[in-house]
Amino acid sequence: MAATIIDGKEFAARVRAQVATHVTHLKAEHGITPGLAVVLVGEDPASQVYVRSKGKMTVEVGMKSVEHKLDVETPEAELLALIDQLNNDPEIHGILVQLPLPKHLNEDLVINSIDPAKDVDGFHISNVGLLGTGQKSMVPCTPLGCLMMLRDHHGSISGMNAVVIGRSNIVGKPMAQLLLNDSATVTIAHSRTKDLADVVRRADIVVAAVGRPEMVPGDWIKPGATVIDVGINRLDAPEKGEGKTKLVGDVHYDSCAAVAGAITPVPGGVGPMTIACLLANTVTACCRANGLAEPEGLTA
Ligand code: GUN
Repeated sequence: MAATIIDGKEFAARVRAQVATHVTHLKAEHGITPGLAVVLVGEDPASQVYVRSKGKMTVEVGMKSVEHKLDVETPEAELLALIDQLNNDPEIHGILVQLPLPKHLNEDLVINSIDPAKDVDGFHISNVGLLGTGQKSMVPCTPLGCLMMLRDHHGSISGMNAVVIGRSNIVGKPMAQLLLNDSATVTIAHSRTKDLADVVRRADIVVAAVGRPEMVPGDWIKPGATVIDVGINRLDAPEKGEGKTKLVGDVHYDSCAAVAGAITPVPGGVGPMTIACLLANTVTACCRANGLAEPEGLTA
């Protein structure tokens, strides 16, 4: 039977609508407008696209959006001073520093200078520790989006075998923590994993986040498994015309979709959920900062 396609675009629109409803409530009942500040250092084209899209969607759900675009050679002290200013700005509830940063900047130092309560990326070491110990934290957006889709599709993932391929701090590790916190049995696989095909074949849930185009073939997938593809890789597509490109995930879509029970497409799967979860995290941070009830279903 053909796999169910998990439509991240539609799901993300629903999440954004929930966020917008909550923002309307915060404004009307409490006179509070959630604010998100995004900091971009340099001119990486992909980062510029993301930042523009984040700003647009922040405004669309009724929140305040502030963008700080800094020169590629900005000294570290200047970036840290800006973060300090945002940490102390009562109109800003979420701060995101777009990664990667230029090489002369210490990424860990910069991220850990963000007030953990405003760390809507969930990358601050205290949020990492809180998530790792199952406490209330800010949760990284991409894994949160994956978790929402899995909970929506399965109801409960308790007791299921999950394999996360990839061990990055942004996706793989927090994803594994979230799955574990929901009582899945979790394996983290990576580039040195032996017999990766056999490891993946045992999984009821496969989350692929390695950044290698179409690395997971359909014959690695257990029949009926749920496949969440975090990869976004741009490949040349001469079949579409000269100079044309296409986006593919970390799994080989056609062969995996023929075996899986459910699968997220690329594009239109995990990608749109990331920004929706960033907006959700900003509302959550705003509610926590003001001692108000958090929106239901928008956090882990
Ligand atoms: N660069 C790629 N993904 C992300 C993300 O989720 N957050 C930030 N801050 N930078 C990124």
